[in-house]
Amino acid sequence: MKPYVILNSAMTLDGKIASKSGDSELSCREDWERVYRLRASVDGIMVGINTVIKDNPSLTSKGFGRNPTRIVVDSRARIPLNARVLNKEARTIIAVSRRADKNKIAQLRKIAKVIVCGSDLVDLRCLLEKLYDMGIKRILLEGGGTLNWSMLKSGLVDRVIVSIAPYIVGGKDAVTLAEGEGFDKIRSGIRLNLVKFYKLGEDLILEYDVVKKQG
Ligand SMILES: NC(=O)c1ccc[n+]([C@@H]2O[C@H](COP(=O)([O-])OP(=O)(O)OC[C@H]3O[C@@H](n4cnc5c(N)ncnc54)[C@H](OP(=O)(O)O)[C@@H]3O)[C@@H](O)[C@H]2O)c1
Repeated sequence: MKPYVILNSAMTLDGKIASKSGDSELSCREDWERVYRLRASVDGIMVGINTVIKDNPSLTSKGFGRNPTRIVVDSRARIPLNARVLNKEARTIIAVSRRADKNKIAQLRKIAKVIVCGSDLVDLRCLLEKLYDMGIKRILLEGGGTLNWSMLKSGLVDRVIVSIAPYIVGGKDAVTLAEGEGFDKIRSGIRLNLVKFYKLGEDLILEYDVVKKQG
């Protein structure tokens, strides 16, 4: 069994989740409040290690409810020991693979829980099954684009929520909603079913269910 996974991301109209220099201040105040409430409604918030290194988020609900467990996907245990996501405001799980340095794992185990899954990148299905067994039944996936791609491609995402901020920033190297190698054909892509859309402040919120492939 695996947790129900909601991918939430803010992006520009041209699909960038950060500018070419890594600026990701996209959402309006009303959208941030929606995200804080959404965080408070799940058991775990998951991000990739580049997001922790670039944005240094604390991934808490900022007083809008309880603070769920934070999960960082970090195969080589690169996370800085002073990262905000390791503060005492909530529990943190660092998911590493067998290529992570043993000494760094030992240091991390003093301040967080470490889960080992996979030999190269983190084996995401293995990780999700372990999280489910630990009682984490609903996960909010908050990027970045590389982890979003891997989770989508592996069929592990159930719902996608995007908030479109009224900007176009361009930049072929700016990170998009889903990175990775991509699909050849549109028809081979992740099929979505639009279930809800509304304006929030100056942003447009779109909510989709992921159409699961049969077999
Ligand atoms: N607008 C938004 O809502 C939003 C939200 C979040 C992030 N962002 C932006 O996104 C950018 C970061 O995105 P990113 O694509 O560079 O990185 P990312 O998705 O945050 O992290 C990717 C890294 O995770 C590690 N990883 C381990 N196992 C993995 C697996 N199975 N699949 C995929 N990744 C795995 C890899 O590093 P190792 O090989 O070292 O393990 C990989 O390079 C930042 O600029 C941030 O501001 C925007």
